[in-house]
Amino acid sequence: MKSAPSLAFKDVSFSYEEKHHDSPLIFEKMSLSVNENEFVVILGPSGSGKSTFFRLASGLEQPDSGQISIRGKEMKERLGEVGYMPQKGLLLPWRTVMENGRLPLEIKGVPKKEAEEKVKDYIDKFGLKGTENKLPHQLSGGMQQRVSFLRAMLSGSDILLLDEPFSALDSLTRFMMQEWLLTQWHQWPKTIIFITHDIEEAIFLADRILVLTQKTRKKALAEIPVPLPRPRTDEVRITPTFMKLKEKLLKEMRGEV
Ligand SMILES: Nc1ncnc2c1ncn2[C@@H]1O[C@H](COP(=O)(O)OP(=O)(O)OP(=O)(O)O)[C@@H](O)[C@H]1O
Ligand SMILES: [Mg+2]
Repeated sequence: MKSAPSLAFKDVSFSYEEKHHDSPLIFEKMSLSVNENEFVVILGPSGSGKSTFFRLASGLEQPDSGQISIRGKEMKERLGEVGYMPQKGLLLPWRTVMENGRLPLEIKGVPKKEAEEKVKDYIDKFGLKGTENKLPHQLSGGMQQRVSFLRAMLSGSDILLLDEPFSALDSLTRFMMQEWLLTQWHQWPKTIIFITHDIEEAIFLADRILVLTQKTRKKALAEIPVPLPRPRTDEVRITPTFMKLKEKLLKEMRGEV
């Protein structure tokens, strides 16, 4: 039997200020569904509503109309159901890297020593060695982003919402983190919904790309499957299929389709 979709939006409409009748609709009767263990990328230009989509999915905002379901059940309280890495406002400023990192484990009641060992393992893999006792303001933007990403990965949820997790990284570190994320996903399948405005990042990672533009957010999102074999390595970036997809997505983003 096919399992229920991890996340489904049905006819979801949303604007930030209902009371202002002139406030623009961000989404109008938007429907989509993401399957269990699927890797979906939401691609779109700045201001197209990508982060708003996550605020709705995670329950920080409620739709004006329509339904949002998680694992096949309509749910109003969604915050505890997903591992969410927001675009900003990520780390508690008074807690060290280690203390921020172990937060999701602390909440679940994992003993401190065990939690710290787990975090330590990630800290090393994420190139954050030596930062354990530093406070967020003592780190670079890219390092802060990696701590926040680490925390979302440790949430243990089988549905991860990642809002531009690698945007502040240099391209080399970014490629490494992309490969790391795919390796993790192959080892421990999860449903991943990943926001980016980087076309190549979208193609490299996704099973399916949903393109969000000012035009599409008022109806169904443009949906583009990525027929590249897995596991994917860097060589895939220079294949004809990859190039063709890039061209197609560029057109979609510009609204030429
Ligand atoms: N809290 C808010 N209150 C009112 N309007 C908002 C709020 N947050 C976002 N908006 C508006 O909603 C629209 C979509 O914003 P959103 O942050 O979802 O875009 P985005 O696609 O994530 O952009 P970016 O790529 O720059 O992160 C924008 O016009 C923005 O000004
Ligand atoms: Mg955003």
